[in-house]
Amino acid sequence: MLKAICSKKDLSLCSYYNCISDIIDSEELEKLKQIRHHISTTRFQHCVNVSYYSYIICRKFRLNARSAARAGLLHDLFFYDRKEYNSSRGKGQPHHSRMHSQIALKNAGELTDISVLERDMIEKHMWPVTLAKPRYKETYVITVIDKYCAVLEFCVPRVAKVAEKLKN
Ligand SMILES: [Fe+2]
Ligand SMILES: [Fe+2]
Repeated sequence: MLKAICSKKDLSLCSYYNCISDIIDSEELEKLKQIRHHISTTRFQHCVNVSYYSYIICRKFRLNARSAARAGLLHDLFFYDRKEYNSSRGKGQPHHSRMHSQIALKNAGELTDISVLERDMIEKHMWPVTLAKPRYKETYVITVIDKYCAVLEFCVPRVAKVAEKLKN
């Protein structure tokens, strides 16, 4: 079942799914299921979380929800280990936080057609770490949702563990 963090919905049964159905089962996204992200989740699940909540917020504010769903799903489409990269990074090589959005954009463009809006969303999702300012409202949405999901992904498993301990 395809789910987002803190949601009980089966995402494959709702309108959100129509926006990403052509890419969700791709080999590239499949690979992300094997990569740990934000300590307690996978990169795939993180991308689904950002995709779904960006879609919901953009739909609510009558922005481009389809592009939000697609850019959210592709915004962290890179395959290296963040810690390994940063520890072996040479002098003058950019920090992971600045570089991975460019790699994700390149990988996303090889997987599917990327609109100008989706390009801005993927490229600048780390703003303000990446200095170029977002050009669209949807890009501001993804920058906030990405950080919001990172916090949820870190906190929710810990809160669940404490709650479980208190029960016993
Ligand atoms: Fe990212
Ligand atoms: Fe992210």
